[in-house]
Amino acid sequence: MSEVTGTLDEVMKQIDEQFDQSVERLSDLLRIESVSTDPAHDQQTAECAEFCAEMLRSIGFEAEAVATTGHPMVVAEHPGADPDAPCVLYYGHYDVQPADPIELWDHAAFDPVVIDSELGRRIVARGAVDDKGQVMTFIEAFRAFKEAHGSLPCRVKVLLEGEEESGSPSLDPFLEANTDRLAADVCVVSDTGMWDIKTPAITTMLRGMVYVEVTVHGPSSDLHSGMYGGAVVNPINELARLLAKIHDDSGRVQFPGFYDRVESITEEVKAQWEGLGFDDAAFLGAIGLTHGQGETDYSTLERTWCRPTCDVNGIFGGYTGKGAKTVIAAHASAKLSCRLVADQDPQEILQSIQDFFESHLHPDCRIEFESHGCNPAIAVPTDSSWLLAARKALTDVFDREALLIGTGGSIPAVGSIRELLGIDSLLVGFGLDDDNVHAPNEKFELTCLHNGIRSHAAMLAAFAGIR
Ligand code: BES
Ligand code: MN
Ligand code: MN
Repeated sequence: MSEVTGTLDEVMKQIDEQFDQSVERLSDLLRIESVSTDPAHDQQTAECAEFCAEMLRSIGFEAEAVATTGHPMVVAEHPGADPDAPCVLYYGHYDVQPADPIELWDHAAFDPVVIDSELGRRIVARGAVDDKGQVMTFIEAFRAFKEAHGSLPCRVKVLLEGEEESGSPSLDPFLEANTDRLAADVCVVSDTGMWDIKTPAITTMLRGMVYVEVTVHGPSSDLHSGMYGGAVVNPINELARLLAKIHDDSGRVQFPGFYDRVESITEEVKAQWEGLGFDDAAFLGAIGLTHGQGETDYSTLERTWCRPTCDVNGIFGGYTGKGAKTVIAAHASAKLSCRLVADQDPQEILQSIQDFFESHLHPDCRIEFESHGCNPAIAVPTDSSWLLAARKALTDVFDREALLIGTGGSIPAVGSIRELLGIDSLLVGFGLDDDNVHAPNEKFELTCLHNGIRSHAAMLAAFAGIR
């Protein structure tokens, strides 16, 4: 143990001394516009994969950007110093969300700036925290180990995806075709958040997702609303009527069987969450609200961490230009997503959404569905030696106990890695609730970046002791 502690001190020193260069390297990564959803950025997304592979090669990894039918996967491997130590797979994503609406950014989204804030310095750019800054927390920890000791204490593999923000279409076939190459004892993911800037957290529950686009078709062409209005079905009105049926007055989703596989959390978990002291007023106040909404009889943490939802994410159709145009449009569409929990089966839920809309649809309408991805909810075992080792390492770095939390977000890869590689993921993230993830002025506190790098160094050293 004393050897490991001594070893780690030198690594930590290296991390602290190199921190400005770490920020520089992150800035270089953030300048690459790797927006995976937009084909106009395909070239830069490919460049970003190559940049990540090169960065890993520069610290002794064998690394490659592997072509897929979509964006490349970055795959890398380092043998480590000890052949008996565990093999740890690190997963992250190098793609980012589009920067729109760009007019709401204070600085250009892909020209990172470091600015002062009440919490210290922060770096602002698209991808700062989701997920480039968090990917750098483990890569910079590897670099510090390499520079302090010439190697890593565990065998390490890295998988960086370029399609996480667009539904991970290439991931499952890639995992299926590369099970040996990616085989490991555990997977570590940094793509979630902390409890607050001083308190580290391990996320043990992720929600899953079903995303579907629905289009209601009515009359065979657009119509004059004076000549036809009142006598024929209006697809926009019809779509709005259907969407309004999704929830009842107590906030419960009405798709048949939606709650069949939803289990309530144990009294123990409930008590643990209550003990976290979540501040509802602050949560709502930070986004200009006071009341909140959702299923009656559930707390905010339950509503976001362990209850399923259905939200409309977009709605379009008809005349949306300037001024007035009296028209009944022939079609109307909405994009909607359900966050799933526990054992809800994404395919069953998708079917039940379709059945629900079909069964309530006006006889003069036809409805079409296009699925944009499905993934199940995840619960990570809370008693594994990996989690205990990570928790202790985090507690040492922050001098504060690491909390076990849930999150409302989804990371499809975690389910795929469980199913296809047969290993659990440890979700240790360093984001904060106010980081503006997916929004204008996305940022990452440099304190979180720094503590994230230190945490990964401490966790890697701790994993080396697990036999
Ligand atoms: N990093 C997020 C997931 C996340 C968000 C975790 C907030 C914890 C807190 C990830 O990049 C993401 O945005 N996931 C999408 C998944 C979707 C595209 C299938 C999400 O949750 O909407
Ligand atoms: Mn992410
Ligand atoms: Mn994201």
